[in-house]
Amino acid sequence: MKVIWDNKIVDREEVKIDFEDRGYQFGDGIYEVIRIYNHMYFCLDDHIDRFFSSANKIEMNMLQSKNEIKILITALLKESGIKTGNLYIQMTRGNASPRDHTYPSQDVKPLLTGSITTAERNLEQLQTGIKTIITEDIRWLKCDIKMISLLGNIMLKHEAHKHNADEAILHRDQTVTECSSSNVAIVKDGAIYTHPDGNLILPGITKVVWRNCAKKLNIPVYEQAYSTADLLKADEVFCSSTTIEIMPVNQVDSQSFTVLKSNSIVKRLQECYKVEIVQQCGKLTN
Ligand SMILES: Cc1ncc(COP(=O)(O)O)c(C=O)c1O
Repeated sequence: MKVIWDNKIVDREEVKIDFEDRGYQFGDGIYEVIRIYNHMYFCLDDHIDRFFSSANKIEMNMLQSKNEIKILITALLKESGIKTGNLYIQMTRGNASPRDHTYPSQDVKPLLTGSITTAERNLEQLQTGIKTIITEDIRWLKCDIKMISLLGNIMLKHEAHKHNADEAILHRDQTVTECSSSNVAIVKDGAIYTHPDGNLILPGITKVVWRNCAKKLNIPVYEQAYSTADLLKADEVFCSSTTIEIMPVNQVDSQSFTVLKSNSIVKRLQECYKVEIVQQCGKLTN
C-alpha cells in the first residue's frame, strides 16, 4: 500500500513517525477526509480550503501550497487504483524535542501524512437510516477546527455504540449542536432546521451541498438553534457527512421515525446529492 509521508508517496512500510511528533504527543494537528467516487475526489476544493482554514486557526504554517497538496493526493489516488473510497490526510505540527507545550520555532516542519481506503456507499443504510441517542456535548469550544484531537468525539461515539446506536446527537443545555462525527438537521412542516456555523460545530462540506440542493428544490433552510424537544417532535431527522452522505435517522433515543416516506424531504435531498456526485465525478454504478 502506498501512502503520503513527508511530502512523498512511499510504501507504507517505509513510514517512520517520531514518538515526539506533536501529533502523537499533544494531538496537535488537523485533518481532512475526502470522498472518492469513480476515481475522482468529490468537493476537493472545499476540503482543501477547510484544511488550510483549520491550519490558520491553530497558526500552523503549511509548507505546501493548496495546489501542491492537490497534486500529491491526486497522484496517490491514481497510484491506489481505488474507485470508491476515502482519502484521509493529516498535518501535525511536527517533531519538536524536548516535549514542550509552547508552539515550536519556525524551523520545526509540519508533517503531512495521508492514505486512501476503499469504502463503498452504504446503500442499505441510506434507505433504512440509522439509530441515534441524544447525549451531552462534552467537547471543547472550538469545534469548527477539524483537529486530530478527537477524544471527546470518540467517547461520544462509544456512548452511542454502548446503546446499540450508530451516532450520538449532541446538545449543550438542551440546544442541539451536531453529532459525534456528522452534522444533524431536522425537518418540520416542510422546512429544514440546523445549528448555525460557528465555534460549536464543524462547518460541514456535505451540509453546504445539501443546502444548495434545498435552495434548488425551494425548501427553506433555517440555520438556527433548536432544542432536544424540537428534535423529538420533528417530522424527519438526518445526519450528514462526507462518508455517510445524507443519512436518515430512524430512531432518537427510544423514539422511532419513519424514514423516506413518499413526500420525504430527506429523500429529495438524497436524490439531489446523487446528482451533484454525478455532475462532479460521473455516473454512479450503485
Ligand atoms: C464532528 C463532525 N461534524 C460534522 C462533520 C461533517 O463534515 P463533512 O460534511 O465536511 O464531512 C464531521 C465529519 O467528519 C464531523 O466529524
